[in-house]
Amino acid sequence: MSEKYRWVKIAESINEIPFGPNGIAEINADGKEICIAIFKEELFSFSRKCPHASGLLVHGYIDALGNVVCPVHRYKFCMKNGRNVSGEGYYLKHWPVELRGDGVFVGLDKPTLFGINLP
Ligand code: FES
Repeated sequence: MSEKYRWVKIAESINEIPFGPNGIAEINADGKEICIAIFKEELFSFSRKCPHASGLLVHGYIDALGNVVCPVHRYKFCMKNGRNVSGEGYYLKHWPVELRGDGVFVGLDKPTLFGINLP
């Protein structure tokens, strides 16, 4: 387990996550609304809003290559690394997801103050 993240349990199991037919769910991770997506049995988590003009990604879709496509202007983002693969120069904030024996966890950023991790 990395010290870099603050791991937050979001579900007891993968079956508890309310994925839509597009494979994307919006969930609350310790007070933060984020998207969780499933593609080829792998879980991803990323920002709820598109970095371009705040389109709600839960209403988008996942293309055949595993990119999330925003419903508003169809910009595409790699769910693994947040790259804007359709080339407009944006970056999608994303977090690691771990499926463990005791639940599903998202590694959120640790709170910082002037770049220093707080305990
Ligand atoms: S708001 Fe998402 S592509 Fe424009």
